[in-house]
Amino acid sequence: MKPDYTLYNEDTFAVMGRLPDESFDMIFADPPYMISSVGTSCQNGKLVAINKGKWDNHQSVEANFEFHKRWLKECQRLLKKDGSLWVSGTYHSIHPCGYAMQQLGIHILNEIVWFKPNASPNLSCKYFTASHESLIWARKSAKAKHYFDYEAMKNGDFPKDTLKKPHHQMRTVWVIPSVPMNEKRFGRHPTQKPLALLERIILASTPKGAVVFDPFMGSGTTGVAALRLGRRFVGVDSEKQYCELARRRLNEVDNILL
Ligand SMILES: C[S@@+](CC[C@H](N)C(=O)[O-])C[C@H]1O[C@@H](n2cnc3c(N)ncnc32)[C@H](O)[C@@H]1O
Repeated sequence: MKPDYTLYNEDTFAVMGRLPDESFDMIFADPPYMISSVGTSCQNGKLVAINKGKWDNHQSVEANFEFHKRWLKECQRLLKKDGSLWVSGTYHSIHPCGYAMQQLGIHILNEIVWFKPNASPNLSCKYFTASHESLIWARKSAKAKHYFDYEAMKNGDFPKDTLKKPHHQMRTVWVIPSVPMNEKRFGRHPTQKPLALLERIILASTPKGAVVFDPFMGSGTTGVAALRLGRRFVGVDSEKQYCELARRRLNEVDNILL
């Protein structure tokens, strides 16, 4: 079967504004963290200023919050009645997103901690080592329903997750290593997510054939996971280089091994 996907190389607000209400079964969003120009990180063992690109520049606390609230409101409109929304981020973005979701009446179902057992060390030795990201899983409103594949989560195979016991309920802390090198062979993106993370999310919250949307798709990880699992995909990124990277990955979907 031909992979079913559509990519837009445009500003996400322009694309979302053209799409009809209730277009998607599930939305995964990994929005800009807005830390470039103000933060530091560890790269190849060295302390460096964070510069992921202009799209990640810090504005002001208020402007960052308004940005998040604006795209979240569009996602709420685009979700089907029984659809669900995932938002991923570090503390820079996840707290404003969570507050905006509460203001919009988007109903939070769970907060997931994605623990990275191989996270980079903290070179300054003045802080704890950042080794997790947070995810919020939510549905359109308190009254809405949502899909959850309880059995797939309980009885599925998650060999690298040292916390998941076979045939026990899936908990809210997931152990998933950072992106392996073989998932970067089509090119680099500064905040690429591992396929194992997106596959778990899609399996948990969509049936086969569902339409999955990513308003900030970057290297297209959500799309690759969606197509591998027999779902359809619509993705947006404003940067041409990342759309091209996503397209290269999506065209090779049959050959991508986990
Ligand atoms: C955190 S990254 C997403 C990474 C992605 N989850 C992956 O696995 O590769 C956010 C992406 O959003 C894109 N972006 C930022 N602002 C945007 C906007 N207004 N419209 C469309 N894309 C945008 C950036 O170019 C970047 O690739």
